[in-house]
Formats: sequence, C-alpha cells, structure tokens
Amino acid sequence: MLLAFEDEADLAQGLASALGQPLALVRRHRFPDGETRLRLPPDLPERTIVLRGLQDPDAKLAVLLLAAAGARELGARHLTLVSPYLAYMRQDMAFTPGEVVSQRHLGRLLAAAFDTLVTVDPHLHRVATLDEVVPGRRGLALSAAPLLGAHVARQVPDALLLAPDEEAGQWVRAAATAHGLDHAVCRKQRHGDREVDVALPDADVRGRAVVLLDDVASTGRTLIAAAQGALAHGAATVDVAVSHALFVGDAYAAVRAAGVRHIWSSDCVPHASNAVSVVPLIAAALRGLA
Ligand code: R5P
Repeated sequence: MLLAFEDEADLAQGLASALGQPLALVRRHRFPDGETRLRLPPDLPERTIVLRGLQDPDAKLAVLLLAAAGARELGARHLTLVSPYLAYMRQDMAFTPGEVVSQRHLGRLLAAAFDTLVTVDPHLHRVATLDEVVPGRRGLALSAAPLLGAHVARQVPDALLLAPDEEAGQWVRAAATAHGLDHAVCRKQRHGDREVDVALPDADVRGRAVVLLDDVASTGRTLIAAAQGALAHGAATVDVAVSHALFVGDAYAAVRAAGVRHIWSSDCVPHASNAVSVVPLIAAALRGLA
C-alpha cells in the first residue's frame, strides 16, 4: 500500500498505478491550536510505502514522524519513505561554532522512523552515499538528471549543458553523457541567501543554445547569475532544467525576467514547470527493493 498526503495526490496516484498498489490518503484534521489529528487505514499491510516530499520541511516533519509511528502500530512492519525532495541535505557541517548539523540529525530521525529511504538527487556534498545519512538503514538516491537530459536533447538537440556550479557538475555530466550533449561547469561563489556570483567556464557559449541544469532552484539567484552571464557572453538562448522546482517567492518570475526562455523541472516537487516525471524511475527502484 502507498500512503500519501492530499497535496501530493497526483504524484501518489501515478506511483500507485505504476506499482499496481492501492493508494490511501492520510486524513488530517487541523485543530485550532495548530496540532494535527491523523487518521490512517486501520489495517496496514506489512510493507507500506509513505510518499512525502520534504519541500517546506518544517511544516511537514512532525506530521510525517507521527504518521510513521502510527503506521507501525497499525501493522506496517517494513516502512519505506519515498521523499522525492529531501530537505536539509545541504546543512552537512557546522559552518560556524554552535551550528546544528541538520543533515545528520534529520537523517537519524528518519532512520528511527523508516526502514528504507528513497529520494531523488539529494544534495550530498561531504557524504558519499545516502546510506550514511540514514545510519543502519537502506538509503537509495535516484537521479532525475538523465531524464532531464533526455528532455533537453529532444527540445534542444544542439544544447550546451551548463552546470551553474561545481556541485551540479555531476548531474550535468550524467545528463550530457547519456545523450551526447556538450557540457561545461561554471564556478559559483555564494555570499548570502540571495547573493551569488557565477563565473562562466572557458567553453565558448557564443551563439550556443545553453541549458542550465541544476538539482535545486530555490531563490533562483544561482540560475539568474548563470543565465545573465551566458547571455552577456553571447549565448543565443538560455533554458533551465532542474530536478527540484522549489522556486520560492518571486524566484520563478525572476528567472524568466533574467532572459530564460524555458524552465523545465521534474515532478519531484509539484510545480507549473514540471515537464518530466520521476514516477517510472521511483516505481522501478521500489520494484527492485521488493
Ligand atoms: C546548491 O549548490 C544547489 O545546487 C543550488 O545551486 C542552489 O541550492 C540554488 O539555490 P538558489 O536558487 O537559492 O540560488
């Protein structure tokens, strides 16, 4: 059985159909004081999958952990969390004394609640595998990059795939290699939440159809800086492809206003820019785990 929340019903429906499993939505009642009452199907199968993307994580985590604990009481012995977007992965060290290493602690909380964790393009920097994030549990990190690469190759066959920073190099290389596209990697310096500088690579972007590919678009400032740089260096067009379309606040409009032609994303995070579905990818991975 797949358990999901109503705000991710489309993704859940697609995943349940692909798996041939029944879907049940967690029923929620929000009390006036801000607490939530949860209701799950009373007889859960031994193997239960919970779908919960962790964009806007602070609003979701308490309810997710309560749902997992409740699911165990109702019969689920093996619980898999499918979190297409896994939050807090970037806070993987104490950058200043006293800073909480959220990646480590969220990983431990999820490891206490779930047996298996499946996600897509987690932002792992200083740890090599998702297994390390959920100690003693199985962690499976899938990638939407080849799917995005296929979409880009269909839409812009002569694209130059550009990673806006070194960390995105891994996804750009995967996508470019799978589809025979040219690629290059920019260098980024972050000065604040919304202040970034992006230096273009030596590769000549003049007259090229540049497609920026990254894991996350949050404030969009990384994409904006890279797009402006590419256009200033003579790129013919700039499009964007991202795994996780967070696009907080004015981000989406601001990226478009920077001269970006198309914005494509995977449906890890429900958004108007969704152009590629990760449902078959996740379904195949779950079948492989069964
Ligand atoms: C970080 O290095 C990620 O790969 C993204 O580049 C970053 O999270 C994007 O953030 P923003 O959209 O706020 O610039």
